[in-house]
Amino acid sequence: MKIINSVQALRAQISAWRQNGERIAFVPTMGNLHNGHLTLVDVAKSRADRVIVSIFVNPMQFGKNEDLDNYPRTLDADCAGLSAHGADAVFTPTPQLMYPRGLDVQTYVDVPLLGDLHCGASRAGHFRGVSTIVCKLFNLVQPDIACFGQKDYQQLAIIRQMVIDLSLPVEIIGVATERAEDGLALSSRNGYLSAEQRAIAPSLHTLLQQLRSRILNGNHDYRSLEQHTKQQLNTAGFTTDYINIADQTDLTLATSAEQAKVILAAAWLGTTRLIDNIEI
Ligand code: PAF
Repeated sequence: MKIINSVQALRAQISAWRQNGERIAFVPTMGNLHNGHLTLVDVAKSRADRVIVSIFVNPMQFGKNEDLDNYPRTLDADCAGLSAHGADAVFTPTPQLMYPRGLDVQTYVDVPLLGDLHCGASRAGHFRGVSTIVCKLFNLVQPDIACFGQKDYQQLAIIRQMVIDLSLPVEIIGVATERAEDGLALSSRNGYLSAEQRAIAPSLHTLLQQLRSRILNGNHDYRSLEQHTKQQLNTAGFTTDYINIADQTDLTLATSAEQAKVILAAAWLGTTRLIDNIEI
């Protein structure tokens, strides 16, 4: 597996693959990889000749008070896992390479509406940072397909919309959320949880499942249901950021029984913010 850290070497590798007529799959990550990421690599591998992964802790998607400096950087372990799963190359740029003029003057990509809801409402500028880096990486790697986890449901919807709006020639593949045996969605941030918090964490998924059952059983008073689940989460030990029953297509709050829906949630355990979702 090649480790690539310059644009020149990246372009040379991509064009060598292209000259062989090979199909390229891309998995963008911020590193500190867990089985969820490795499943993305497996899916990518099953659908293309070559798999390239990026590892870049993107400063543009972190707010001022967020955990950029403490975000775990585990390159050696990440590369061992990627190599074992058959990735062909890893692109590991520095912030200087990606944003040479600095973040304040960086041209950006912003997906309106979708990017302002849910996590976007609590994390100003977060999705602008995500769309901008993913667009830049797509331009550098020029993949045929790119794989993203469905755990980041809103992120996936935003990237799909960006690809449509900017006519980017990339097929976006959403991959089902990997969970621990107790239901907790795998996330790099789970590593921040204390033993006590880790024991509470799975109830986020359990309470979403219970909410889903109430809706499937015919309760359509969505705003009251959200409030009720919020109280349950807070009683369990979370500080709930939001719990929203939304339309799957535009992620606006659901209002009618006919809509295909998704429950989106974000909640804090101490200083760790967990997200999860469940489609209905
Ligand atoms: O989901 C992530 O890890 C990041 O948001 C992404 C897509 C790699 C962009 O930095």
